[in-house]
Amino acid sequence: MGKMGRGGLVQALQAVRQLQEHVERHPLTYARWTRAQSEYLSSTARRKLLRMGNRGGKSFVALADVQMRATKSHPCRPDWNSRRGPTHQWIITVSWSQAVPLQRIFHSMIDWSRVVKSPNWDMAKGWGKDSPTIVYEDGSTVGWRTMRQGPLAHAGAELDHILIDEPCAIEHYRELERRVVTRAGDLSLALTPVNAPGPLDWLRDLCAEKVVLDLHYPMTEELFRYEDGSLRRLPDGTPMDAAWIEEQARSVPMIWRDIVINGGWDEIVTDGAFTEVFSKSNHVADFKLDGKEILCLGIDHGTQAFTETAVLLAVDERPEYPQVYVIDLVEAPENSSPSEDAKAILKMLRRHGLKWGNLNRVTGDIAHYGGRGKFNRKSNQELAYELTREMRLSRNQALSPPIRTAKTGKGASPRGSVRRGITWIHRALLREGQFTIHPRCSSLIEAMEKYRGGSTDPHGHLVDAIRYGLDFYINRGQRRNVTTPTIVFR
Ligand SMILES: Nc1ncnc2c1ncn2[C@@H]1O[C@H](COP(=O)(O)OP(=O)(O)OP(=O)(O)O)[C@@H](O)[C@H]1O
Ligand SMILES: [Mg+2]
Repeated sequence: MGKMGRGGLVQALQAVRQLQEHVERHPLTYARWTRAQSEYLSSTARRKLLRMGNRGGKSFVALADVQMRATKSHPCRPDWNSRRGPTHQWIITVSWSQAVPLQRIFHSMIDWSRVVKSPNWDMAKGWGKDSPTIVYEDGSTVGWRTMRQGPLAHAGAELDHILIDEPCAIEHYRELERRVVTRAGDLSLALTPVNAPGPLDWLRDLCAEKVVLDLHYPMTEELFRYEDGSLRRLPDGTPMDAAWIEEQARSVPMIWRDIVINGGWDEIVTDGAFTEVFSKSNHVADFKLDGKEILCLGIDHGTQAFTETAVLLAVDERPEYPQVYVIDLVEAPENSSPSEDAKAILKMLRRHGLKWGNLNRVTGDIAHYGGRGKFNRKSNQELAYELTREMRLSRNQALSPPIRTAKTGKGASPRGSVRRGITWIHRALLREGQFTIHPRCSSLIEAMEKYRGGSTDPHGHLVDAIRYGLDFYINRGQRRNVTTPTIVFR
């Protein structure tokens, strides 16, 4: 025990306990910040954007900022702390389910001695979906709203500060900005320019015109270094160092790398989405299956030259990561009828000694109703009907397995689901032996070499059919609030 007597030890322990209690009660007093986070906190710009790649620490600091404003104990904003009277803030998220992980962070930051009223807390559901509001001792409030509520729901309120987490449409920005003018308030955005409801050119222009202060930080070790010199770590202790960053970058297809990793505005034009990772020598080979694989069929009802594309896949679920084998495919020309499509698909199955009933998962594209005056689009229902006819099923016999509809992004932007799918395939291609295409699928091999994405890509139908075929694997766990330390795509 050295020179410290028993009494000294008790005192020391007491001091530690007191400090612990103090930290618990005032969680933000001891927070450490990175340079980027510090610059965000100290900026007094009325309109600002914190722009970084995923996991950069945007939401964390932006929520802390709201919290410290609410208690007028902001370490870098004496101007704010000296505001008279209660202040009113909003936090805007894309949806209520997206609000929950943010509410968890916010909840853990609250100094409860300063809060007089808050809705019931539920670890799984946060504060609920009823536009929850937290009221502080001086009458200051922090309210949660979502972009799904539509611009009109925001009318009338006057706010001192609004935080928009994640990209929004210009209409939301305009509407929300009007809410802060009367009180000379601030509007802050914290986002990675992905999965936006539309192009973000308007925001980029506002930044270029310096209407909005653009706080942009690419992902380098610097981004994760606290001001005391130590590096941020994942919950499991892994330091977020150059090697970790390198690994994150590798796992994202080149086209989106700059956006997702560095918070860049633009997709990078590449030769092809998979050029970097796909090679005939690694991914094209004859293979033997042992019959224990899961058989999947992915169907795309395209809008271009091929209106019906089906890809037959075998997925070996036994290894840690599912191993994908592309067995065969059918591409039906534009003017083929659904009954011809059904015949062609069944014929392909027969080539491999299979019947429809041998399939485990069948997933098709959502029906296309688009295009004024276009009635030639195809759907899962139509195809399913023709399949039951071809198979001579009786009236009461349902097609088994049925054709399920693939998950696509809800709302106006299905782009998130495309990105998720392409990224999933990209990662599978990176892992040895995890993605093998049979040499007979020559058009797919060409597609893997040339596919660049976008709605006019001539190889899109094949890659889409693969995405749908693997929909179960790509989208499982999607609805959970992912808190794993890997990059999360939304
Ligand atoms: N200064 C900090 N101190 C402690 N933990 C931090 C800090 N900054 C970030 N973190 C941790 O890193 C996690 C990820 O940060 P955050 O959610 O802010 O990232 P993000 O940039 O908003 O990412 P996304 O693009 O995925 O929304 C946080 O949940 C938090 O646990
Ligand atoms: Mg975030």
